Amino acid sequence: MTSLRRATAQAPANIAFIKYWGNRDHRWNLPQNASLSMNLDGLYAETTVTWADDQPSDTLVLNGESASQEALARVSTHLDILRSRLNIRSRAEVISKNNFPMGAGIASSAAAFAALTVAGTAAAGVELSERELTTIARIGSGSASRSIPTGYVEWHLGEAHENSFAESIAPPEHWALIDVIAVVSQAHKRVGSKAGHRSADTSDLQAARVAGAASRLAVCRRAVLERDFATFAKVVEHDSNLMHAVMMTSDPPLFYWLPPTLAIMESVRNWREDGLHVCYTLDAGANVHCLCEQSSADAVRSALQTIDGVVDVRMASAGQGARLISG
Ligand code: DP6
Repeated sequence: MTSLRRATAQAPANIAFIKYWGNRDHRWNLPQNASLSMNLDGLYAETTVTWADDQPSDTLVLNGESASQEALARVSTHLDILRSRLNIRSRAEVISKNNFPMGAGIASSAAAFAALTVAGTAAAGVELSERELTTIARIGSGSASRSIPTGYVEWHLGEAHENSFAESIAPPEHWALIDVIAVVSQAHKRVGSKAGHRSADTSDLQAARVAGAASRLAVCRRAVLERDFATFAKVVEHDSNLMHAVMMTSDPPLFYWLPPTLAIMESVRNWREDGLHVCYTLDAGANVHCLCEQSSADAVRSALQTIDGVVDVRMASAGQGARLISG
């Protein structure tokens, strides 16, 4: 008899204030430093997992199309982790969609692996703690661990799989920060984060970046908890610049910035001097995340729209973590 077990979960993208870049252990995604982020409301992956006893192999439909072998292999590897933890042997049918451009500096793998972990677990009829779900999601994509808890989230360094987990440090309503995302490229990035984490140690600057990460995180955590925008802006921009300095000095060098990226970064610094509460941060892509207090968000959006090379502007406030839609 065929038995089908199905669940659907939604998980948000997140933007890191203190970045994760480089692993101590690549198989388990144990990071070289702890990181801190905010979930992005309204930018999410929605994933349905069906464990089907009579299916010969895993299948993946991504944004309405049958996924590439590469994407399927990565999802299947994560399903193996879930099968082993949940004690099941069935293959899965996975249907996932994102409502934002993939591979363009908005962390699609974070949302995808958080949603896959939550839906896959629920579809198997198993209840795991949020903490454990974050550790499992982390194996699929490091930053996915931060897309499960709500609001502002810290991913702890941890010595081993069990204690490299993420937890909320404040709910979304604690601080009305808005991420005004200047999209300058919707192309899929040439070198993804996975390869970048592996090459981070080839940069002489990585050791220095990692050495200072814990103290930057402490400054940033406190700034978030105290809603101290000036301190927040300084440490967030510094941390993003450090990560990109590592990227540019790695072998092979990774240059994610495009000319409009640099123009936006300079404008953001000027706007802050003029009194707007805004700072920038970038992930592994050319798009610029302009983090603002709510009072400055509309002005920042209008100003971004006048910059050459900005093809779209998206706004996302601090949001909830992953949630089960059905199952
Ligand atoms: C630059 O966790 O997305 O966004 O999924 O393994 O490719 P993989 O890596 P991922 O790396 C995120 C890197 C970053 C910084 C951050 O989000 O902390």
